Amino acid sequence: MKLDTRIVRAGISPDPTTGAILPPIYETATFVLEEVGRDKGFDYTRSSNPTRQVLEDNLAAIEGAEYGICFSSGMASVDSVMKLLSAGDHTVSSNDVYGGVSRHFNRVLARYGLEFTYVDTADPDAVRAAIRPETRMLWVETPTNPLLQVTDLAAMSAIAKEHNLLLGVDSTFATPVFLRPLELGADIVVHSTTKYLSGHNQIIGGAVLTNREDIYREMKFIQKTIGAVPSPMDCWLVLLGLKTLHLRMARHNDSGMKIARFLEAHDKVAQVRYPGLPSHPQHNIAAAQMDGFAGMISFELKGGIPAGKALMNSVELCALAESLGAVETMITHPATMTHAEVPAEERHARGLTDGLVRLSVGIEDCDDILADLDRALAAA
Ligand SMILES: Cc1ncc(COP(=O)(O)O)c(C=O)c1O
Repeated sequence: MKLDTRIVRAGISPDPTTGAILPPIYETATFVLEEVGRDKGFDYTRSSNPTRQVLEDNLAAIEGAEYGICFSSGMASVDSVMKLLSAGDHTVSSNDVYGGVSRHFNRVLARYGLEFTYVDTADPDAVRAAIRPETRMLWVETPTNPLLQVTDLAAMSAIAKEHNLLLGVDSTFATPVFLRPLELGADIVVHSTTKYLSGHNQIIGGAVLTNREDIYREMKFIQKTIGAVPSPMDCWLVLLGLKTLHLRMARHNDSGMKIARFLEAHDKVAQVRYPGLPSHPQHNIAAAQMDGFAGMISFELKGGIPAGKALMNSVELCALAESLGAVETMITHPATMTHAEVPAEERHARGLTDGLVRLSVGIEDCDDILADLDRALAAA
């Protein structure tokens, strides 16, 4: 089956009892045994649930993975992957990972003896130089949130194999429609299903995909032991959102490209970061390993903080909202919104400059998004 068909159909068969075309929402904590030692494949929803199983099978098929495991958030997925490690283990990580991920690494996992080094994973030599005898994981986000840095996954896979490391990839920004890291040698793929995969701002969720049975078994053990599982209702809502993933991604990509070009030509904008633009530093890698560039753009306003504030207060169609990857266009200015409490020096060190704006291009008519930005930029 081709990808578009797998998205709509894989892992989903009519309900055997009623013929319902969509899977039932099994909102139940437990399952009654037929007799001691004999159940119908399910015993307790923390361990497994039929609605979650359909989502896990569907996501695995879409990613081209043998196994899928779902979690209650993208962060719970990242946390559960890191639980494959033990105290003393070291991870080399992309330096521009999503802020919630670096906060988790530095402020939670570091307390349990895990160590992290952050490097620009677009530079394979920097990755090699950071590897130590106790390094076990190479953690790559591509494209990154919010600076849209792109990493060559085949190069990372070669390094991981050479040094016997696990290669984990957060592929949330790309989705399996545009990037399939397992085909490029990754061991583990993570998604925040909160974003493009569910697509309608309707749930918080996460998923881990792998082809390795040993990793799957360990992740299933971690999933049922820790219990950061999504509700059956949330799984069903992700399944519903997924049905149009390919259609939505095509629109995000088309509009993303048009808006990135518009911003690049705008006199209020100093720089645009979008992997589809030839000016992007890793455009060639992105073009070679991705089938599209999705709808995430970040750009730098010439006017710094006042311009960012003015833009945020002038947009009407673009929603001032923290998430991304949904049907609605959303915009954030980290310096005055998500990172307003972070001291300027620390914020700048992370590349979150005063004029940085992150735009998640939705699936509205592109002309309306462009008109909103054009009008609001006049105030910036
Ligand atoms: C790249 C990336 N990974 C992981 C996460 C965490 O996902 P969640 O908010 O579903 O926990 C996010 C959230 O923004 C993200 O952008």
